[in-house]
Amino acid sequence: MLREADVLSTLMRRKPAHSLAQDLYCDPGVFQVDLDQIWYREWLFTLPACEIPKAGNYVVHEVGDYSVVIVRGTDGQIRAFHNSCRHRGSVLCKTKKGSNPKLVCPYHQWTYELDGRLLWARDMGPDFDPSAHGLKAVHCRNLSGMVYICLADDAPSIDELAAETERYLAKHDLENSKVAFESTIIEQGNWKLVWENNRECYHCAGNHPSLCRTFPEDPRAVGNDDSGELLDIQKNHAERCNAVGALSAYKIAADGEWRFVRAPLLDTAESYTLDGKVAVTKPNSSFPFKDAGALLKFRYPGTWNHFLSDHIILFRVTPIGSMETEVCTKWLVHKDAVEGQDYDLKRLTEVWIATNAEDREVVENNQRGIRSPAYEPGPYSPTHEGGNIQFVDWYAAAMIRAITRSASRFAAE
Ligand code: FES
Ligand SMILES: [Fe+2]
Repeated sequence: MLREADVLSTLMRRKPAHSLAQDLYCDPGVFQVDLDQIWYREWLFTLPACEIPKAGNYVVHEVGDYSVVIVRGTDGQIRAFHNSCRHRGSVLCKTKKGSNPKLVCPYHQWTYELDGRLLWARDMGPDFDPSAHGLKAVHCRNLSGMVYICLADDAPSIDELAAETERYLAKHDLENSKVAFESTIIEQGNWKLVWENNRECYHCAGNHPSLCRTFPEDPRAVGNDDSGELLDIQKNHAERCNAVGALSAYKIAADGEWRFVRAPLLDTAESYTLDGKVAVTKPNSSFPFKDAGALLKFRYPGTWNHFLSDHIILFRVTPIGSMETEVCTKWLVHKDAVEGQDYDLKRLTEVWIATNAEDREVVENNQRGIRSPAYEPGPYSPTHEGGNIQFVDWYAAAMIRAITRSASRFAAE
């Protein structure tokens, strides 16, 4: 099992523009360092706010050893708390999702307000101070309808992403949407392989027959060419969308952690359907035309999203083990859209259900091949895999920064 110092030296020795060393995809020690230095430090997308519309609605999200309750309060605010009672630590919410007027511990019934204050604890003696035993808060932000949490004591700033999300999502109404369908799959692959597969379409022609009907494989349509070059067709599309108030230009964070770009679909397709026409006739956007393409957003390490004119697809990545990752996909439509009338569920979901299954297979094959003692890092295509180069560069820089910082803090103590 590798430790932090080994991870650091492995990353320092890596060959630029090549896939990572075997240990970084397979080793349980590296997985723990990934959790400690990335997943327990960064902002993580958890759920769309519209999924918990009423006071008392909650979901439980688990990452590594952490379990977090995300709950809407009576004031409408969404907050996050560690799912661990301040009495003797029992989990508070046992189910993944639910609704309660108060949070009541199942063990001895300590009862918490939805804002985390302890309201009631039986027979704790005259010296007991309820105000010192409220639930422990987790950093939580609602970015234009997307709820993020951060498990670190000191959360990094997310203000720039919040501002850009508001600008880019201006035409999409996530708050007034609902989850029409969700799927959760487990891929037997390291979370970084899931991301690498997402960041290129080099594999699309050979693996995604239904997605390829509408999704542009050309890396220059989505800004994945190593040069950052965008096709004229993307630029023209961006101009057309900008003219109606839909920000569309390629924009990536200085540290590479997030990116937005609105890409046109193939041949003026409107949505990810087999015939290219919209899947939902009551859209959750305010475009004056249907062929608005897909606003593609990612935010490492936990989410990528597609915002179309008629619906929205949110993907969430959660690491389970060194070679196991959960991918949760949610299809969101306008909250008043009626199934069977405004959309057909099969038509809405079939392209990405098939694509996710195809992606699971290629990720699992990739992981199995990497486990071979004969594996050695291979070169990324400069034409098609600029997104992979960007991802592994982000990962290496984030890890080196975090490990170095925690080592110097440890030395100072
Ligand atoms: S552990 Fe929660 S009330 Fe005892
Ligand atoms: Fe794919």
